[in-house]
Amino acid sequence: KSALTLPKLKTMKDQNKPIAMLTAYDHPSAMLAEEAGVDIILVGDSLGNVVLGYDTTVPVRLEDMIYHTRAVVRGAPHTMVVTDMPFATYRLGTESTLRNAAKLMQEGGAHAVKLEGGAELADEIRVLTSAGIPVLGHLGLTPQSVHQIGGYRIQGKNSGEAEKLLQDAKALEQAGAFGIVLELVTEELAAAMTRSIGIPTIGIGAGRGCDGQVLVFHDILRYGSGIRDKKMVKSYANIGDTIRNAITEYVDEVKTKAFPEEKHSFPLDQSSTSTNLS
Ligand code: KIV
Ligand code: NA
Repeated sequence: KSALTLPKLKTMKDQNKPIAMLTAYDHPSAMLAEEAGVDIILVGDSLGNVVLGYDTTVPVRLEDMIYHTRAVVRGAPHTMVVTDMPFATYRLGTESTLRNAAKLMQEGGAHAVKLEGGAELADEIRVLTSAGIPVLGHLGLTPQSVHQIGGYRIQGKNSGEAEKLLQDAKALEQAGAFGIVLELVTEELAAAMTRSIGIPTIGIGAGRGCDGQVLVFHDILRYGSGIRDKKMVKSYANIGDTIRNAITEYVDEVKTKAFPEEKHSFPLDQSSTSTNLS
C-alpha cells in the first residue's frame, strides 16, 4: 500500500468515494490507523486537549507538533500525514508562515499542513503551495479562535454567516488549498459548500453531505477526556474502561503478590548467557 496522493484525493471527490480521516498523535496510534486503512492521518493540534491536558488548543507549540508528527510518520510510513499549524504560527507574515510550515515538513515529516481560517489566509496559502507545501483549509468552528468566538458552537446558522463561509471556501480553493475541513457547520451549509467547490470537504460535525469525515482518535475509542460536542462523535470502542480495568487488575495483583509468578521470574540456574525476554 502506498500513501494517497493529492491527485487521487481529488479523484475520490469526483468519483464520490468517501475519504476517511482520523487524528493520531503517536507511534502506536498511527500504526493502527494505517493498518485499519485510514486515508489521511491528521496530527491535529487537538493533541493539546486529548494528550497534553490543556483546555484549548491555544497553548500548543510548533515544537509539540513536530515532536508528535515525527512519531506518527514513523508509525504510518505509507499514509498521507497532515499536521496542524498551531496557534499564531501562520499569522505573523508569509515569511514566518513558510518557515514554520517548512519545519513541520522537514523536521516533522508531514506531507501537508492545515490552517484554520478563511479568505484572509489567501496570501499564506499561495506562498505555501508555491513552495510545494500542500495546504488543507479548516472552516466553521475554528478552535484556535475559541477565545474570540466564545465557545464551541455550530457555525453558519444565519444567512450572513453562511454566505461568508461559502465565500471563504471558494477563496481557499482559489488560493490553492487541496481540501477543506468543515467543523461544526449545519448539514445543509456543509453540503452546499461541498457542491460549490472542486476540492474535497472533510467534515466533523458537519453532516452527511461532505466528501469525507474526520474524527479524533481518542473520541472514537473513548480514551481520556474530551471537550468537543459529543453529538457529532460516534464511539466504536471504549478502551478507556478496558485500560482502567486492566491497570486496576495489575495494581491488585502486585498488592496481593499474585504477580509476578514463577513463569515471569529468572532463577539463577536457568539463566544462560542470553535471556529470552519475549
Ligand atoms: O485538531 C484536530 O483534531 C482537528 C480536527 C478536529 C479536524 O483540527
Ligand atoms: Na486542529
